[in-house]
Amino acid sequence: MTDTTERASAPQAGGAKAGVRVWDPLLRIFHWGLVAAFALAWLTAEEWQVVHEYAGYVVAGLIAFRLVWGVVGSRYARFAQFLRGPSATLGYLRDMLRGRERRHLGHNPAGAAMIVALLVCLSGTAFTGWLMEEPARIAMLPDPVQFVTPAHAEEEGEEGGYATGGEAVEELHEVLANLTLLLVVLHLAGVLLASVRHRENLARAMVTGRKRAAGPGDIA
Ligand code: HEM
Ligand code: HEM
Repeated sequence: MTDTTERASAPQAGGAKAGVRVWDPLLRIFHWGLVAAFALAWLTAEEWQVVHEYAGYVVAGLIAFRLVWGVVGSRYARFAQFLRGPSATLGYLRDMLRGRERRHLGHNPAGAAMIVALLVCLSGTAFTGWLMEEPARIAMLPDPVQFVTPAHAEEEGEEGGYATGGEAVEELHEVLANLTLLLVVLHLAGVLLASVRHRENLARAMVTGRKRAAGPGDIA
């Protein structure tokens, strides 16, 4: 596959095309498609079930695409380019607290950890949504998942003190959806913070695909 992301076009002062191309078009479509589908799933939850489910399936489809693109996509889309271990991520967070984290042309280690968290929670939300659709799907789960603990079941109160697996899955769906929303808020805070720290509009970069070329001390 030809890799065009590293091709640095000469920065043209003030021009819309200034900078280097970092995010490829499919990655950008993935991102904004995910934002739209996630928002639609939220807004239609318990309001417009058919649309809610289709929006959830679109989220699942986009994640499936992203997993493939993380392996075969352009340079800055690849997981191998931006995934870091816990110590590198913690080191980066420590640098952030001291206000001296380095600028990354691709995702920084904290952003990368957030991407993993978002993808995992979104997958879990979509999967539990799919499970809820049919009791037969829940019945396919291993036995322990069919029931929640008696302590919890006291509140739910069904079937002699045990809540059914269906209720547990529904609860999990809601918890995961709320957790994802919390992550999205942190994601936006991270984007804002990095934009201010490195004096560049990262949200716009996710639209145009371009960022300021790496300077001295930056990680490209
Ligand atoms: C208007 C709201 C949003 C803005 C402005 C925004 C902005 C951004 C930006 C600037 C990046 C690149 C970060 C970097 O430079 O490393 C990014 C990445 C990402 N965002 Fe958002 N985001 C928004 C909402 C969301 C939502 C709602 C989700 C998920 C439900 C989401 C999921 C992701 C993911 C998964 C990535 C990684 C992209 C990749 O696959 O490489 N974002 N976002
Ligand atoms: C990742 C995308 C999704 C998000 C963010 C999401 C979010 C939510 C939220 C916030 C609720 C309301 C929970 C409550 O307050 O009781 C809900 C309920 C529900 N969702 Fe999802 N969901 C997603 C995907 C899906 C999918 C793919 C399906 C099924 C194919 C699904 C099926 C349902 C059902 C059946 C309910 C219960 C509605 C009711 O209480 O009657 N969801 N979802």
